[in-house]
Amino acid sequence: MRIIHVTSGIRQFMTHVLETGFETMDNDNPNGCPRVRGYNVINGKLALASDSGTFESRNPAWLEDCLGEFPQSTKQDVHDALRAAGDAFPGWAATPAPTRGQIIGNMGRLLMKLKDDIVRVETREIGKTLKESAGSVQEAIDTCLFFQSEGRRLYGQTVNSELPDKELFTYRRPLGVCGIINACNFPAAVPFWKMIPAIMCGNTCVWKSPQDAPLLSFMLTRIMHEAGLPNGVINLVHGRGSGAGQHLVDAVDEGLVNKISFTGSTPVGKMIGEICGRNLVSCSLELGGKNPLVVMPTASIDNAVEGAYWAAFGTAGQRCTSLGNLIIHKDIFDDFMSKFMEKVESTRIGDSLRYDDVLYGPMLSEKYANDFLDSLGICETDGATKLWGSGRITDDNKPDNFQGDASDGVFMWPHVYSDVTEEMECFHEEIFGPVVTVVRADDFDHALHLANASPFGLSSACYTNDRLEAYRFKTGIKAGMTGINNSTTGAEAHLPFGGVKGSGNGTRESGIWVIEAYSYWHAVNDELSGKLQLAQMDVDEIHIEEAEADYSALA
Ligand code: UN1
Repeated sequence: MRIIHVTSGIRQFMTHVLETGFETMDNDNPNGCPRVRGYNVINGKLALASDSGTFESRNPAWLEDCLGEFPQSTKQDVHDALRAAGDAFPGWAATPAPTRGQIIGNMGRLLMKLKDDIVRVETREIGKTLKESAGSVQEAIDTCLFFQSEGRRLYGQTVNSELPDKELFTYRRPLGVCGIINACNFPAAVPFWKMIPAIMCGNTCVWKSPQDAPLLSFMLTRIMHEAGLPNGVINLVHGRGSGAGQHLVDAVDEGLVNKISFTGSTPVGKMIGEICGRNLVSCSLELGGKNPLVVMPTASIDNAVEGAYWAAFGTAGQRCTSLGNLIIHKDIFDDFMSKFMEKVESTRIGDSLRYDDVLYGPMLSEKYANDFLDSLGICETDGATKLWGSGRITDDNKPDNFQGDASDGVFMWPHVYSDVTEEMECFHEEIFGPVVTVVRADDFDHALHLANASPFGLSSACYTNDRLEAYRFKTGIKAGMTGINNSTTGAEAHLPFGGVKGSGNGTRESGIWVIEAYSYWHAVNDELSGKLQLAQMDVDEIHIEEAEADYSALA
């Protein structure tokens, strides 16, 4: 163990991540859970911030519970991580793809073994229900299991040449160093969507963990190393989006990054796209959504209510695929809304670690809570009719089925705004949290028009039992994902995930499609003739022959 730095009593150890367990700190956490000293992981070694700066991770369901202190990474830390990723790249790219796949398979198996603990930490750190955290961790496992054998494929092609004694091939080649930046709402699934295909293709990564999920990210990085990942292939830096995240993106201008993969807001995505664009560096952008869900008269209303309610309020509405505009045909509007509101009004909310069967927990963090409250103001200013909801849940202002002590965390009421029209700002703005904006449609064409009228195009859904309507919806909607008689959320780990319009730049996560985002095609020709043969120019030309046959005489 080598001491490299001593500042304000904190020693920076360059211990390898596999050589030590978790370091706990004194704490007065009310739930008796430990407070951890978190580290960056650079070149396989634990590191503090170069200026010793730290930030805390707190449980949003119980703010007095502090999960740990993590490095507030500086530009120097990000550059150290980039250097480590750059140094590791040639060796990793030269590692046979099936071997890379084996390590990814080990990751999946370790995640399966440790799933229950990871799930509880995810819930403790971002407040998702245990059931949903288990879904998020399972999505990471599914991704590993899918890509372990992609290491045995990663197919290129053999292609016929237009010239004799010449062979043509294509190979997938890695891009280099990838900067990975994800939001905290799927802190296991989304970074794995990105990093697993990235490393499977032979790239190395610098991962800026989400500011509100550093402990989970630290755990996952350790697990990836336990799976046999060589040093420097994935380097973890914690910190703010506007700090470490920005330094990582700025490094594109310095030629230190070959790819940025980002999940987050549309304005930040556009900024990243500009920086990558001017450097001709590839970027994957998964951005916001205002996902429409249409309900038509032939639909099973109970099924549609179930799907809309889950899409709107599951995860406290904090998925990029959550329901935004609920578009209901006028003929079934009242019937649908009375059933929908009955469910909304009985919503069970609380800390899933302490109370069973809650639909949703707190906001992901205090920052998400404040942003949500600010955005709700748009619905009020627009003059939409509030049917339900009253901002932040407090001990004096709580719905009947709220569980526990509201002042422990940052919990929000479910909100429903009706009489929303496409002229209103709240029809177009993504409001990240438990709120749905309800719009009335005159007929199918109007519903489809409304579904396409927001600036986003991530997910979408249509409930109908008319096959022609379902068909017209899936061909007429401009979105990356569509559910027929299903909610807007719940994409599976082996289908392409992503959006169009303001929801992204057309790149996709997941399944075989994501490989395009982390590799480039290399076309190789092998000239075996021993001479210079010119494509297009030395190619045999076959002419159409004149013949005596009169086909028209037979017709
Ligand atoms: C996200 O919110 O960024 O389809 C990802 C879903 C999840 C993934 C959401 N499987 O809702």
